[in-house]
Amino acid sequence: MFSDSVWWKNGVIYQIYPRSFADSNQDGVGDLNGIRSHLDYLAWLGVDAIWISPIYPSPNVDFGYDISDHCAIDPLFGTLQDFDNLLSEAHHRGIHIIMDLVLAHTSDQHPWFQQSCQGRENPYHDFYIWSDPLPGNKPPNNWQSIMGGKYWKYDSNCQQYFGHMFYPQQPDLNWHNPAVQAEMLNVFRFWLDRDVDGFRLDVFSSYFKDQNLRNQPFTIGRRPFEMQQHIHDHSQPELENALRSIRKLVDQYPNSYIVGEPFLPDVKSSARYVQPDMLHAAFHLKFTEIPWNASRMLSSLRSWESALSPDAWPCHVLNNHDVPRSSSRFHSDRFDHRLKVAAALMLTLRGTPYLYYGEEIGQRDIQLSRSQILDPVGLKYWPFFRGRDFARAPMQWNASSFSGFSTSTPWLPVHPDFPNRNVEAQQNDPSSLLNWYHRLITIRREYPALQNGIFLPITYEPRKLLAYLRQTKSQSILIALNFSRKPVQLHLGGELLKEQWKLLASSIVTRRDAKIISGKISLAGDEALLLIQDS
Ligand code: NOJ
Repeated sequence: MFSDSVWWKNGVIYQIYPRSFADSNQDGVGDLNGIRSHLDYLAWLGVDAIWISPIYPSPNVDFGYDISDHCAIDPLFGTLQDFDNLLSEAHHRGIHIIMDLVLAHTSDQHPWFQQSCQGRENPYHDFYIWSDPLPGNKPPNNWQSIMGGKYWKYDSNCQQYFGHMFYPQQPDLNWHNPAVQAEMLNVFRFWLDRDVDGFRLDVFSSYFKDQNLRNQPFTIGRRPFEMQQHIHDHSQPELENALRSIRKLVDQYPNSYIVGEPFLPDVKSSARYVQPDMLHAAFHLKFTEIPWNASRMLSSLRSWESALSPDAWPCHVLNNHDVPRSSSRFHSDRFDHRLKVAAALMLTLRGTPYLYYGEEIGQRDIQLSRSQILDPVGLKYWPFFRGRDFARAPMQWNASSFSGFSTSTPWLPVHPDFPNRNVEAQQNDPSSLLNWYHRLITIRREYPALQNGIFLPITYEPRKLLAYLRQTKSQSILIALNFSRKPVQLHLGGELLKEQWKLLASSIVTRRDAKIISGKISLAGDEALLLIQDS
């Protein structure tokens, strides 16, 4: 079922936001059996693994990222048996499963926190970050929550403050307590014993906070959170050993994988944890922030590559459940030309590509009025920041009611363009974005240079054109991506001109060849071109 190559290096990983993928029991919320019913689609697309956002019991203040039991399945999504069925059917198709572990905090409904609030003598009290008030009942220090407001919330029963980096309903665990670390290892063991293949560690770099709870120095910024230098609330020295213990355990299960989501998108502080005895990989999230600009992409790539240690393997993310979709950010036209270039970028770079459900059909962000917003941070900051619901709309499977996602009203509205933009329609259209993704993934599987070849940029028109080679000893593939809407020419100089190149693929379906005239190849506006050395 599984090929021998290292799946998380050579493969393509697909993120599923389970509430929005497919609803099998018609309650308007996606579930595990819904995912299972679309495994053939995922196998056809060519993904090697799925990362499923949290499916554990949760009061859903932060839609699953507030867990009340790490070793169970929320009935909204199904049962443990449903999970086992999904896992075995995915494995049968050669698809690995990555669980999303949220271990920096729990839900305030977690039994540990409930116990913790019973009083200072309770054995679970020290599972969380508690601190006495400063004189005048003031919070223990100046820390801020990234979701807005102070980091601290007062609890009148304990007459102490507890810390929460996210919502107050997500109290932070005290990783300095060895009992917490032991419980967390049990969580890994529980899922590894069930045969899961890997874990995405939510905000791993914020597991530890400064034990002395020192104030953070001020800096210039817009929001109070940004007006601090975050030196005490993440990336603490104790993190390295904790990651080592996790890795040691995970390594007992061959071919298992851990990828970390950094708390702050700071390249250096996340890269340093990608080590043979710590994380296999960490997300590079800059691509989710920067505009559609070839030189910005290249410099972001370079800073990521140079921050990583030489043998560390990169991974690339254009979309996830926290940011507006690239289809909106990059202002793609309705024919998705630009999204095809973005797809080629993701699938030909050196590193593991992470795709987000719906990215392959160019799913757009939905528009919501204030009364439709569900994400608390969107409600709090409307209209300045509208939250993250927009990128979490139901998957558009076909043109039937509610886009084939469910027969009941979904928890978030379906994008109104679903009658035209959906999986079924795009599977039947050879020039669709979906078929381009399928083609690129197929090519990537076929050509080792695209999996593990070195990456050599050869850019001449820095803002408009990103061109690079992917090369192994025996194979050379040249990728040219036109970031502008106008035609552009790629100049081939030196050694490149001596080679014979033939067309491997183009995002423009009518292209038949790639003629080199006077050392130049012309690219149409918004074209992605792959050439292979003709040996
Ligand atoms: C990062 C997750 O991606 C985000 O959705 C969540 O709100 C926070 N971590 C808190 O768990």
